[in-house]
Amino acid sequence: MKEFKRTLITSALPYANGPVHIGHLAGVYVPADIYARYLRLKGEEVLFIGGSDEHGVPITIKAKKEGVTPQDIVDRYHNIIKDSFAELGITFDVYGRTTSETHRRVASGFFRKLYDKGEFVEKTSMQLYDAEANQFLADRYVTGTCPHCGNPNAYGDQCEQCGTSLNATDLIDPKSAITGNTPVLKETSHWYLPLDKWEPALRHWILDEHQEWKSNVYGQCKSWLDMGLQPRAVSRDLDWGIPVPVEGAEGKVLYVWFDAPIGYISNTIDCVGDDWEKWWKDKDTRMLHFIGKDNIVFHCIVFPAMLMADGSYNLPDNVPANEFLNLEDDKISTSRNYAVWLHEYLQELPGRQDELRYVLTANAPETKDNNFTWTDFQQRVNSELVAILGNFVNRAVVLTHKYFDGAVQPLGELLPPDNAVIGEIGSLKLQMTEALDSFHFREALKLAMDMARAGNRYLQETEPWKEAKTDMARTATILNVAIQLCANLSIAFEPFLPFMSAKLVKMLGGDRITWDMLGCFDLVPAGARIGKAELLFEKIEDDVVAFQQEKLRKTVEQNMLAAWKPEPVKEDVAFDTFEKMDIRVGKVLECRKVPKSKKLLEFSIDDGTGTPRTILSGIAQSYEDPQVLVGKEICFVANFAPRKMMGRESCGMILSAVNPDGTLTVVGPTAEVRPGATVG
Ligand code: MF3
Ligand code: ZN
Repeated sequence: MKEFKRTLITSALPYANGPVHIGHLAGVYVPADIYARYLRLKGEEVLFIGGSDEHGVPITIKAKKEGVTPQDIVDRYHNIIKDSFAELGITFDVYGRTTSETHRRVASGFFRKLYDKGEFVEKTSMQLYDAEANQFLADRYVTGTCPHCGNPNAYGDQCEQCGTSLNATDLIDPKSAITGNTPVLKETSHWYLPLDKWEPALRHWILDEHQEWKSNVYGQCKSWLDMGLQPRAVSRDLDWGIPVPVEGAEGKVLYVWFDAPIGYISNTIDCVGDDWEKWWKDKDTRMLHFIGKDNIVFHCIVFPAMLMADGSYNLPDNVPANEFLNLEDDKISTSRNYAVWLHEYLQELPGRQDELRYVLTANAPETKDNNFTWTDFQQRVNSELVAILGNFVNRAVVLTHKYFDGAVQPLGELLPPDNAVIGEIGSLKLQMTEALDSFHFREALKLAMDMARAGNRYLQETEPWKEAKTDMARTATILNVAIQLCANLSIAFEPFLPFMSAKLVKMLGGDRITWDMLGCFDLVPAGARIGKAELLFEKIEDDVVAFQQEKLRKTVEQNMLAAWKPEPVKEDVAFDTFEKMDIRVGKVLECRKVPKSKKLLEFSIDDGTGTPRTILSGIAQSYEDPQVLVGKEICFVANFAPRKMMGRESCGMILSAVNPDGTLTVVGPTAEVRPGATVG
């Protein structure tokens, strides 16, 4: 393997059109931070780049909806995102933004160099145009009927019903989202990066030279390359973005996916100033892009082609992209507000940063989509962090205080169990290093937890509390080993649980830790006094879980209500057709569940004839207690042909309204009416 002097780590710049959620964290930021921390522990030279992606159409749509400027939107979310990352302990060396002056200059310059080198082709095409609003319509600004599934609310870039990606010009009966008018086709010209020109170079670079990439990344690249690459437009007709730095290009901006990755470069410049080129152009620097799977093509094909077209930059060495995280078995969605938002988590579960980092890593969607549930969160915190890691450290520290007043004792002769646990930590370290080096963070975290498990087993086996009755020298040795083990845990877990690690380092009286120290058993010298035991983790109580589950349930309910639309009105019917239906008012005499049926209620109705009428109705799931209907006046169809159900005869049909959630509400007159009265 090639040796490097330093590593540039980038993490996808999140769109500043909403806060970040656990899906972003599990996919990108937590793994990137684990890796950056790990390299720093190894004493390597690292630069970890973050920042907000502040251009793009969704931001302008959100601004329009709220009646504010796009700048207002990105200012708001940039700050929320930046602060919440910092609070979670994500150690970016810089967290920049693509509306910065530096970025505008760098992105413009990047475009201009490629333009001057003749790396773009200019092409004209017909695009949808809103004549009243006097502007071209970005795909997201056009809605219409999906040509594949007939969904009447498809967007110009994608139909959310059938998932097909579309061109705005494919939509049937397109409408402008700005004015509601039917757009017209108008000619416009744009600059394109001819990816086809770079296809052979990309093929060789990825398919031949980077077979070590994760199979999900490699596979996606291969299928793109095998389909053949087309020129891609790098400009848009839009008024939010970086102006195309070419004369006569008024009203055109750089396409967001052109400027955003250049943000990695501008943020580097904002961070290190003139020194930036060593991070981007020195052959001894390796570059890694941490991203989610929806960003693979941009980071493995488009951005590298841009870098190749420039000719002076390094290409990424690896792109360890993750799959997606679901939430309680549903897709996380910013637009539907269905997520666990980081800034809310930090407020609602204060001081629990490591718990979130732990669960998101233990469940990371490294090779396939994964699922976050609040019960799993509780389970992992309580039975792993509290019961294994917290418990071991607590026992070692408490026993050292109990028998030796908190002073670490000299190590006596080592017996087999001592040597065994020391050996085990050494071998776990080797495995951990290998896992971390190959971006297998779940595995690495599990191995770190195995170190804590080994500690618990060691105390169980050596029983220092029993030795203390007869052999204080032996007790001293055991507790020394146990304290050294705690020090090892503070190192092994630092990339994953930095808050716990810092607390533990302090408790043990240490200051600096390095990866080299992991596996050593002389980290806390004999004679050192350790601090009092502090709980590293506390249990997550049931009410915390219930509160979060209820919050998600309410969001789902609100979305359903917001999305509800009345059914389209049925075909016209003539009066005599309507008149054939004999609708009447009746009074409910009795109402009960039909035994062995989930759905049926049996009504006994006073229909004015003097003989009660029996009607069965499939509404039991909407009426927990059927007694509430007794005494109510309701409407029913009296000449509905009698039918047998569950061995009973039903004479008529009860009328009820269908609610947005599918439940039914029986309908009746608004004032008292004589049972048997006709309705019409
Ligand atoms: N904002 C994009 C997203 O959230 C990611 C941009 S990554 C960058 O999908 F390379 F373009 F910056
Ligand atoms: Zn569709």
